[in-house]
Amino acid sequence: MLNAVLNEKRTVFEAFLEKYLKENNDSSGLFEACAYSLTAGGKRIRPVLAMLACEFLNEPLEKSLHAGLAIEMIHTFSLIHDDLPAIDNDDLRRGMLTCHKKFGEATAILAGDCLILLAFSVIGSSSYSTEIKNDITREIARSCGMQGLVQGEFLDVEAEGKEVDLEEIKRIHYLKTARLFELSMYAGARVARGGRERVAALKKYGMNLGLAFQAIDDILDVTSDGASLGKASQKDEKKGKATIVKVLGLDGARLWAEDLTNKAIQVVSGISGNREIKDILINLADEMKKRVK
Ligand code: IPE
Ligand code: IPE
Ligand code: MG
Ligand code: MG
Ligand code: MG
Repeated sequence: MLNAVLNEKRTVFEAFLEKYLKENNDSSGLFEACAYSLTAGGKRIRPVLAMLACEFLNEPLEKSLHAGLAIEMIHTFSLIHDDLPAIDNDDLRRGMLTCHKKFGEATAILAGDCLILLAFSVIGSSSYSTEIKNDITREIARSCGMQGLVQGEFLDVEAEGKEVDLEEIKRIHYLKTARLFELSMYAGARVARGGRERVAALKKYGMNLGLAFQAIDDILDVTSDGASLGKASQKDEKKGKATIVKVLGLDGARLWAEDLTNKAIQVVSGISGNREIKDILINLADEMKKRVK
C-alpha cells in the first residue's frame, strides 16, 4: 500500500520535473549535466515529503511541487559535490556514473553551483505569495548554508580519520542530511499555510526521519552491496568517515535509527491533520527502519 502511494506521488513529481526540464532546456553542456543528475533516478523522498506535509494540512499536493523541485535541486547539487574527488571521491551514484565521471570535474562543480541557483529561481518564478516565497527562500538558504547542509559536509570532511563522539556525529547528521528533510516538511506545510504549531511538529517529524535516514545510510554502507545501493558500499570505514556505526557499532546504530523513527511517529501521531496522510507518514517512518532490520 505504502509503496503504491509513494510511487504515485513520485510519478507526479517526475512529470513536473520533466516539464520543467523541457521548458528550460537551453541546449548547453551545463544544462545537460544538471539534467543528467536530476534525472538519474533518485528516490525523490524529499519532494514526496513536501507533498505529504501539504496534503496533511488538506491542501492539494500540486501546491508543493515548486518547493519540492527546488529542494530536489539542492539535494542533487549536494550529491554531485559530495561525490567529487575532493570530498568522497565516488564513481557511481544511483547506479550511474557520477556527474564528474560523466562530464569531468569542472562541469560537475559548475552544475552543482547552477542547481543551487536554479532552486532559488524556481521559487522566485512560482505563483506563491510574496510572503511564502520569502519564507521558503530564507529557509532554503538557512538549512543549506552555514547552519545547514554545506556546514554538515564541511564537518563530515573535517572529521575524517578522527575520533568522534555521539554528539558530534548527531550534529553532522543533522546538518548534512536532516536539515533538508526538515526543510521539505516545512516547505510543504508552509505552502499549505499551516499554523505555527503544526508546522513545528511536521518539521520535527522531518528532523527525526532525516537523522534516521542518515543512520540507515551509514548502516547500509556496511551491510549492503553496491548493486542494490546504486553506489559504492563499504567505503566509509576505508575513508575513516565519522559514521554512526563507528560510534555505536552496527546493533547500536540500528537501535539508534529505530528510536528516531519512533520519535518521528510519535510527533506526527500527536497532531491533527488528514487521517490518511497521517497513516502514510507513520508507515513511511515504520518502513524506513525495516530497511536495516
Ligand atoms: C543520499 O540521499 C544522500 C544521503 C543523505 C544519505 P538519497 O538516498 O535520498 O539519494 P537519492 O536521491 O535517492 O539518490
Ligand atoms: C550524505 O552523506 C551526503 C550529503 C548530504 C550530500 P554520504 O556521503 O554518506 O552520502 P552517500 O553515501 O554518498 O550517498
Ligand atoms: Mg559524504
Ligand atoms: Mg558520499
Ligand atoms: Mg553514505
